[in-house]
Amino acid sequence: MIFYDEQRELFHLQTEKTSYIFGFLEGRFFTHLYWGGRLEQPVADYGDFLDLSNAHRHMTAMDYTDCHYSSDVLPSEFPTFGNTDLRTPAFHARYKDGTRISDFHYTNHNIYKGKKPLVGLPATYVESDDEATSLDIVLTDHLTGMVVTLTYTVFEQLNAITRSVRVVNSGKESVALQALLSATVDFNGMEYDMIHLPGAWARERHPERAPLFHGKQLADSLRGASSCQQNPFFALVGHNTTEEKGDAYGFSLVYSGNFVAGVEVDAYHVSRAMIGIHPFDFCYHLESGESFQSPEAVLVYSGDGIGGMSRIYHRLYRTRLCRGQFRDKERYVLINNWEATYFNFDEEKIVAIASKAKEVGVELMVLDDGWFGHRNNDLSSLGDWYVNKDKLPNGLESLVSKINALGMKFGLWFEPEMVSPDSDCYRTHPDWCIHVKDRNRTLCRTQLMLDLSREDVCNYVIDCLSDILNRSPIAYVKWDYNRNMTNIGSALLPPERQGEFYHRYILGLYHILETLTKRFPNVLFESCSSGGARFDPGMLYYMPQTWCSDDTDAVERAFIQYGTSFCYPYSSMGAHVSAVPNHQVGRRTPMSARGAIAMQGQLGYELDLNRLSEEELQQVAKQVQFYKQYGSVFHTGDLYRLNDPAKQCFVANEFIAQDQNTVIMTALVIKGLPEAPVEHIRLCGLDAKAQYRLEGCDRVYRGDFLMNVGIAFQPSSDYKNTVMVFRKQ
Ligand code: DGJ
Repeated sequence: MIFYDEQRELFHLQTEKTSYIFGFLEGRFFTHLYWGGRLEQPVADYGDFLDLSNAHRHMTAMDYTDCHYSSDVLPSEFPTFGNTDLRTPAFHARYKDGTRISDFHYTNHNIYKGKKPLVGLPATYVESDDEATSLDIVLTDHLTGMVVTLTYTVFEQLNAITRSVRVVNSGKESVALQALLSATVDFNGMEYDMIHLPGAWARERHPERAPLFHGKQLADSLRGASSCQQNPFFALVGHNTTEEKGDAYGFSLVYSGNFVAGVEVDAYHVSRAMIGIHPFDFCYHLESGESFQSPEAVLVYSGDGIGGMSRIYHRLYRTRLCRGQFRDKERYVLINNWEATYFNFDEEKIVAIASKAKEVGVELMVLDDGWFGHRNNDLSSLGDWYVNKDKLPNGLESLVSKINALGMKFGLWFEPEMVSPDSDCYRTHPDWCIHVKDRNRTLCRTQLMLDLSREDVCNYVIDCLSDILNRSPIAYVKWDYNRNMTNIGSALLPPERQGEFYHRYILGLYHILETLTKRFPNVLFESCSSGGARFDPGMLYYMPQTWCSDDTDAVERAFIQYGTSFCYPYSSMGAHVSAVPNHQVGRRTPMSARGAIAMQGQLGYELDLNRLSEEELQQVAKQVQFYKQYGSVFHTGDLYRLNDPAKQCFVANEFIAQDQNTVIMTALVIKGLPEAPVEHIRLCGLDAKAQYRLEGCDRVYRGDFLMNVGIAFQPSSDYKNTVMVFRKQ
């Protein structure tokens, strides 16, 4: 629900469990008042939320309309540059005459059922208007003609609030938009820890938690993509907030490009949380009548700890961000040849790998990198999306039909945003890559990036992929992206628009993805970026799963999936069982451990099963069978992270099926202890009075026992693991 109190100009956004309140204090100051546990109507007045006698401080400049207030002290709902608020603004523009001052006033607002899509950008959505209520607030700067519309959507049952901003230049002169954050929230107090998800290649999303300090603490990316170094997500939690108890506020950005996310704490302990497109090297030129749409920020509050916050994101992103027929389907168990063969394969090898996989129940064969141009290593051929006849002399069609004849589906790898200097594509169109005239073109993995801010280049990518997908029955596409963006600039953009490049690239990418996923609704698309370097909500809108990491070691993966699950559901994580010793870290883990970790995500295999012993093959067959039976519990059930693997020598998760009748507990020892003390892994979220039967034996436990005493588990040896299935009686 969204309530508007006309007399006090106060807005109350209410979900089943939360309230978010702001208003126009004295009809002028756009003031944030409250975000947290649900309040009932009518809510209190400004002076009850704030100590208004504190609305000015020594040295703060007073507002010109009312000398009692300084915006520098009031918690702001939409801070803009040019008034008395000297903290980080959400809006900053440079006008034709060189001035940068904006002065916005309330113009009107509109409350309506449902949610409108964001033009050209991914966003959460509704399937029926009853699922959400939205609010548009229009603000105008009468001198410059800039009009800003702030859009809020309240998902009542899902307990999430989304925010975005649209700017229209209704003035006569052109304007340079220099910063537009999607959301800021001013918290009274700084008694919070910030959690964010830093990482590296093959070591993505390892959560860090630290208390706020005065000044700025930011997670950001200037790499042209959301990156593996940081993720467009952070949470603010109370110092005592645990996995299942206490306040947790999440901020997530539905965007795949440069972003900034974090907090500025001021002298009076007010913490301004912010998230949006990174303002560095961003400058959007708006001619009279032109507009700019910010990406969507998704704000989640939970009083049930970090786990409660995660479960809200999981449900929302799984059901109202991901789209298409695969959103609600159990996806194919696949086998991928990358770690089995790397570039060294031919038709015979691929068919042999697929045949063995078919025997154990695998459903789809993915041919990874190296099938096109004359690509036998990573030195060439990106952009030449036609078959490598040396490796596949009978063409792709022949291979696809052989795989189909086995009763399996076929999937194919692409890296559509790239071009190799050694390619026909580059030789014909050297100007199509991202570059700046007269500057060197910097290579990474011997490749350049295509300039997706150009329509002709986007069309080339769409045509190449469409051609291949039209010719053979390809059921799955792995969409890879293996470098950071450098040499920022486009040959086609005029000088005053060069600052738009990063964002225009992302818009081009989204346009391509929208076109292809609409054109090929039966193809399952999986996003990938050297593993999980573009694991963000923007990509999940187009592709319901992302290859979580190039690190396929069970132990490393347990950490990566743990961190990823802070914001993203297990249904969105591609996860494969690979060979031992592991190719990334050299560790040997048992097949059971590798399977137990991978099957929590979208299960696949990435090794040559012909090299396994009969016993191992039987294990694989059992894993696939188990996964076919219970995969939906991992993917659509509620996740409870039962411990923090960084603090204990094992990692344990619990998944409760939507109907509450099946509960799965998984535990893996990361580092065994001699004479290990017995741990009791306590389950969560069960019905205290119900009986739960452990599958495979006749033991029955009551819910209160499982939640208070727990399951005894001795972490005595490396990689010891268990997967327990409980059925509610
Ligand atoms: C990086 C991906 O993460 C890998 O899985 C694989 O597809 C390689 N690229 C291929 O070049």
